[in-house]
Amino acid sequence: MSEPKKLYIKTYGCQMNVYDSERMAEALGGKGYVETKFPDDADMILLNTCHIREKAAEKVYSELGRFKGLKAGKPDLKIGVAGCVAQAEGEEIMRRQPMVDLVVGPQSYHRLPEMEAKVREGEKALDTDFPEEDKFEKLKNRPKAKRGPSAFLTVQEGCDKFCAFCVVPYTRGAEVSRPADRILREAQDLVERGVREITLLGQNVNAYHGAGANGDLTLAQLIWELDKVDGLERIRFTTSHPNDMMDDLIEAHGTCSKLMPYLHLPVQAGSDKILKRMNRSHTAESYLRLVERIREARPDIVMSGDFIVGFPEETEEDFQATLDLVEQVKYGYAYSFKYSTRPGTPAAERAQVPAAEADERLQRLQSMITRHQREIQDSMVGRELSVLFEKPGRFDDQMVGKSEYLHSVHVTGSKANIGDIARVKIVSSGTNSLAGEVIR
Ligand code: SAH
Ligand code: SF4
Ligand code: F3S
Repeated sequence: MSEPKKLYIKTYGCQMNVYDSERMAEALGGKGYVETKFPDDADMILLNTCHIREKAAEKVYSELGRFKGLKAGKPDLKIGVAGCVAQAEGEEIMRRQPMVDLVVGPQSYHRLPEMEAKVREGEKALDTDFPEEDKFEKLKNRPKAKRGPSAFLTVQEGCDKFCAFCVVPYTRGAEVSRPADRILREAQDLVERGVREITLLGQNVNAYHGAGANGDLTLAQLIWELDKVDGLERIRFTTSHPNDMMDDLIEAHGTCSKLMPYLHLPVQAGSDKILKRMNRSHTAESYLRLVERIREARPDIVMSGDFIVGFPEETEEDFQATLDLVEQVKYGYAYSFKYSTRPGTPAAERAQVPAAEADERLQRLQSMITRHQREIQDSMVGRELSVLFEKPGRFDDQMVGKSEYLHSVHVTGSKANIGDIARVKIVSSGTNSLAGEVIR
């Protein structure tokens, strides 16, 4: 038998890219590729790119430049660009970096095996279509390798919301939900391979409306179906839009014991003027009311969010409204970004906030978020949490896992195994994690 070919994938961006990279590795696994952690060993290098940050494409071009020498010394090495920059730039990538052999958009990964054959023949392969066929179905014949205890599962893709700052509707296309039976089959398969926690993914996951046996299912209905899967112990989902937070989903947070008490619900800003200009179609007040209702259903829920500061025309007063909202919600986690222009999006044309001002606001917001984060993490000390162990820790006899609230928890001398879920008494809170003892 010939040596297996080696594949090096570098993944940027959101969890959906992480999921997609796994699927691409499996698709190419069928063509005899095994993954390597070292680009120098690779027969094929794939960059799975993200377009959300400023100068994302430029960064991809400079990253590609670094492989030039490698390719010069190894003419059989094939280089591919996947993900959202591939979708946005398309052919331009091969024009600017002629050593790129393959460009594949997020909707075309199932065509990778054919594309690989083409590039092995010395041709170029480009596919940034939004094809009709179901890529997930085409990708499903994969090896039954054992998995870690926590896995992602894409249930919905794309977005129709067109927030004024965002490229996702352009790179991922229109909102599409996968049929429920296929998701359930995939979940069952994951559980058989050792998975105990599944995070359902979608750019707008709570807008899910996939076909079921008796009409479309909502995300909450899908969660209740997953709740019946034996051996699956934990369900999470991300990312949600406030406008799609339906009653049945809120209620599920109070009644579905497998649904973890953690919710990522980005608000982006606290000023109604800015929210309107962002085309978010919710107000600060409606968001706060929503959080209140979620907390009525599940009082201990830990909230997480995304923020953009320095959006065009944001004044100090507008920014203050963001701080007020954060002070009221108190997030356990939050991701905050300085607004950056994305060519082609409506906000790119508007008057920009001076960078120094935006930087200063970002710092103020982040220090408030860090304070809350710290308070919430510290409040876990003395409590008994449930921990799913994911990997060995840095020290002998140490295991690291995640609590129901998504905090990292370290335990020493417990004899716990990866995949175990244990009751843990939290004894201390460190910079980025908690420490505890398994309760016998
Ligand atoms: N679908 C998700 C988020 C997708 S992008 C949602 O609706 O919440 C992830 C985050 O990146 C966004 O929530 C936003 O906070 C940030 N982001 C997107 N475009 C941005 C831009 N042009 N500048 C700064 N941050 C941006
Ligand atoms: Fe982007 Fe808005 Fe869609 Fe989220 S909801 S992906 S921020 S357009
Ligand atoms: Fe980035 Fe595309 Fe995800 S732009 S955040 S990789 S959907």
